[in-house]
Amino acid sequence: MKHDDGISNPSGNRPFTNVLEVNMQRRKVLAGGLAGAAMGFFSSPALAGMTDWEQTGNDTRLLGFTPVPLAEGKGPWPAISTDYDYQVLIPWGEPLEPGGPAYQWPPTAADQTRQIGIGHDGMWFFPMEDKGCRDDDDPAHWGRHQHGWRGGENRHGMLAINHEFGRSMHVYGKSAPERLEDVRISQHAHGVTVVEIQKTGRVWRTVQSDNARRIHVNTPVAFSGPVAGHALLATPNGNIPLGTVNNCANGHTPWGTYLTCEENFNGYFGARNAWSATDEQRRYGFSANGFGYGWHLFDRRFDLSDEDYRNEENRFGWVVEIDPFDATQTPIKRTALGRVKHEGVAIAEGRNKRVVAYMGDDERFDYLYKFVSEDNWKKMRREGKSPLDHGTLYVARFNDDGSGEWLALSIDNPVLAARFADQAEVLTFARIAADLLGATPMDRPEWTTVAPNGDVYCTLTNNSRRTTANGANPLAPNPDGHIIRWRDADQHVGTTFTWDIFLIAADTHGTEDSFASPDGLWADPDGRLFIQTDGGQKDGLNNQMLVADTRTGELRRIFTGVTGDEITGITVTPDRRTLFINIQHPGGGDPTVTNFPAERDDVTVPRDCTIVITRKDGGIIGS
Ligand code: FEO
Ligand code: CA
Ligand code: CA
Ligand code: CA
Repeated sequence: MKHDDGISNPSGNRPFTNVLEVNMQRRKVLAGGLAGAAMGFFSSPALAGMTDWEQTGNDTRLLGFTPVPLAEGKGPWPAISTDYDYQVLIPWGEPLEPGGPAYQWPPTAADQTRQIGIGHDGMWFFPMEDKGCRDDDDPAHWGRHQHGWRGGENRHGMLAINHEFGRSMHVYGKSAPERLEDVRISQHAHGVTVVEIQKTGRVWRTVQSDNARRIHVNTPVAFSGPVAGHALLATPNGNIPLGTVNNCANGHTPWGTYLTCEENFNGYFGARNAWSATDEQRRYGFSANGFGYGWHLFDRRFDLSDEDYRNEENRFGWVVEIDPFDATQTPIKRTALGRVKHEGVAIAEGRNKRVVAYMGDDERFDYLYKFVSEDNWKKMRREGKSPLDHGTLYVARFNDDGSGEWLALSIDNPVLAARFADQAEVLTFARIAADLLGATPMDRPEWTTVAPNGDVYCTLTNNSRRTTANGANPLAPNPDGHIIRWRDADQHVGTTFTWDIFLIAADTHGTEDSFASPDGLWADPDGRLFIQTDGGQKDGLNNQMLVADTRTGELRRIFTGVTGDEITGITVTPDRRTLFINIQHPGGGDPTVTNFPAERDDVTVPRDCTIVITRKDGGIIGS
């Protein structure tokens, strides 16, 4: 999303670096070419035993499609590779199920609780099968067994999708709320949608479902893990925990649940009366006006100056677990994963089946985190424990020599014990704990993704305010971003790693592969990396999705969106022959810029929507 103006980190964690030396290192990497960087980097003995694609004998060309030319990726309508087709699915305001309340302008708060939300972002497809069993040791097949349904796993499933931010109160209508109903429309358009979708013929549609639901800002939620029950989550008036907000990117677990991540939650709070921020509130960017949503004007929960609702803001900034196959489940905020501006969460299965979660905190000069469960996830679940409730949270320090360390955010560390009373405080104010440990301030960590060979990739979208480069953030300033890659010791559970820079966006400028501000990211099982952008592209190009061959560094543009949008969210059917992505805030909400997707003659406002992509010959997406 666009709210990237802040810097909340005053810690001065700026590892001393000789800028010249760093730039020399960078030139060396680039001189070796992307192929050299990609193939040569992870050759240390520590990584022996890991599978590398280049060792598998897979010399098939990964990118066979005709790219979208730079000159065609502009204007008010999407463009796609001539080898592919796309279909629009679930625009903002459509009913969750056939027969539900139809989209109308202006929306009503009541209808919006049974309609698709706005600001489509991260999502995941949970297939439903006719028969057979999944192998849940294979991450590509993580999911829930659902027997006896109407279609195959590649034609039928639950789609869980985030609704990051809503312009329904702003660009689409009033500049500020005038009554509580206005606030409720906005709140109900945020959160998560779970819908059941099915392919009939060549077309995907929503279908009747026992488990379709909306989770929004006023939906009851529960807390679990070390902070649950702590005074930091209690308000003086005792109101129960409600809602999730600014749901950005996502993850999914090996046991078949969806993870939604709360990012810029600070922007929804404001102060009606005199208020001054605590150190903790300041570190998370709270201000008297927030992002201008004005919820605090009519909903006391979001008024920082209302003493009855003290601590309400501590209830946001978490990773939330949702069961896409049980609409009665209460969404659970998993506090062991820390409270930051969570972009997303990429789950890996580490050594001895420990669950590992990689997470970016998207703000200039903020950090990368990793959570490791204390034990084998299957064993923990058999014992009735959530693997996401018990474990260790770490923050990353990148050394300029290509090594790195994961620093444990534990109250057992005397440095943290001197500042915090207990582990719940450490987790609730994870950013401050990370400052104290000397984590490396990054150029806005967005999505992370774990490739099957063990490499982890993370987009560092941009940082126009960096004045001092370091190895991991080699440009100062860095207006166009880069992608970093690392590999952890000990199959994701170790406390050290090695890293390199995979791509620097500015190096593509002036070429056909031009892109800037990488954001969404997904590594497929073959060695492709799907890269989505959110920010000013060069030469009038719209935001886009490219595919990289991680073995060679080759890049091709597969899709471009519409003026004023961003491209985000990515998930596939198990056979990878259908891919879902999202167009967020098309035209910036301005119907004079675009009326995409304009599925109805009476609707002219551009609407956020999902895009379903297939290859014309039925092939694997990206090939
Ligand atoms: Fe929600 Fe950092 O993008
Ligand atoms: Ca976004
Ligand atoms: Ca993003
Ligand atoms: Ca972004």
